[in-house]
Amino acid sequence: MYITRLCADGFKNLKKIDISPHESLNIFCGKNAQGKTNLIEAVWLCTGVRSFRSTKDSRMIDIDRDNMEIELSFKNSFREQTVRYSMSKKDIKEKNIFLNGVKVKTPSRLFGQLNCVVFTPEDLEISKGSPENRRQFLDLCVSQIKNNYAGVCAKYERIIEHRNALLKSIYSGKSSKDELEAWDIQLSQLGSYISLLRYSYTKKLNTFASKLYSEISQGREKLEIGYYSTVFPKLEGKKDYAGEMAQEYLKVLKKNTDEDIRSGFTMKGVHRDDMTARINGLICRDYASQGQHRSVALVMKLAQAYILSQETDDSPVILLDDVLSELDENRQKFVISKIDGMQVFITCCDKNIPFEKNQHGRLFNIEGGKIKTQRRKEKKD
Ligand SMILES: Nc1ncnc2c1ncn2[C@@H]1O[C@H](COP(=O)(O)OP(=O)(O)O)[C@@H](O)[C@H]1O
Ligand SMILES: [Mg+2]
Repeated sequence: MYITRLCADGFKNLKKIDISPHESLNIFCGKNAQGKTNLIEAVWLCTGVRSFRSTKDSRMIDIDRDNMEIELSFKNSFREQTVRYSMSKKDIKEKNIFLNGVKVKTPSRLFGQLNCVVFTPEDLEISKGSPENRRQFLDLCVSQIKNNYAGVCAKYERIIEHRNALLKSIYSGKSSKDELEAWDIQLSQLGSYISLLRYSYTKKLNTFASKLYSEISQGREKLEIGYYSTVFPKLEGKKDYAGEMAQEYLKVLKKNTDEDIRSGFTMKGVHRDDMTARINGLICRDYASQGQHRSVALVMKLAQAYILSQETDDSPVILLDDVLSELDENRQKFVISKIDGMQVFITCCDKNIPFEKNQHGRLFNIEGGKIKTQRRKEKKD
């Protein structure tokens, strides 16, 4: 799949942008704070998936303007589609989103149409960072291929908040322990569903990532990715999330209730789970070098792109925001070779990126939120 046209106006600092990207390579060069990441974010918004930068809605509109509008057209082997996304400061909650001219109620209704994989310098922390980083990565990946998943996660988070408030209230004698039951039943079902989907995604991730890692390390190192559940000692073979799994989940919550009341916090559950990466058997979090962490993060992101291709029968658009300059030459070349054939948007500060001089693509210059096309090199038929 590839983006054929992108217009944006009033989205953060972007001003009257109207570009026709190349089918494969698009490079956006510009100094710091000119709008490179904003441009990537504008594309991302049209996927319907939560902002990778956690930008608040009100901050998406230019501070000096009242409205913002993005229009993006993309094509797959079947058809061309258009997303129009606009927001106004007057009514920030009301987003005007249209898919092919038809209004959709929420951004999540755009899921599964435009598929992108965004790669930012922060993503290089997936392996090294906190379990929360990895859970976020995993949840975003799953939500791209499973429509209702983001909604289930949001519901789970709301219930955890209620439960934690109740735990504190029980501790101070204002509420009784019996009140937990209703929350626990809901948590058990939602948590079991999340566990199952995350586990199954992790298995797919492992298949692709371990193969890629073997390549990047020239066969010297073996990467294994697994899912660490705080609730289920074993997830393999489990299916019945509403029945058997939920019962097991509930038992774990009940067993921990007294400790939870003392701490005012729910200690077990998918909000405490982790994804584990091991190189040659050693847990990366504890043993990996900086370089190994980077390679693990790279292969995970590439695996995300491959899984999307597999699940949707179409390659996603790859958005590389300022990451190439963070990588050494070997890793740069590796990434580029692995996304060959997909449409790529690359943002960078200089033009010294490792692409062949004669490679087909377009080079854009971005300054003060405005974009100029610098060079085109089109494919000859
Ligand atoms: N709501 C907004 N209105 C106007 N400008 C904004 C808004 N949000 C961010 N910016 C500006 O956008 C610029 C950052 O753009 P960004 O895309 O992150 O830069 P970079 O090119 O370094 O990736 C900053 O100058 C920032 O002040
Ligand atoms: Mg940036």
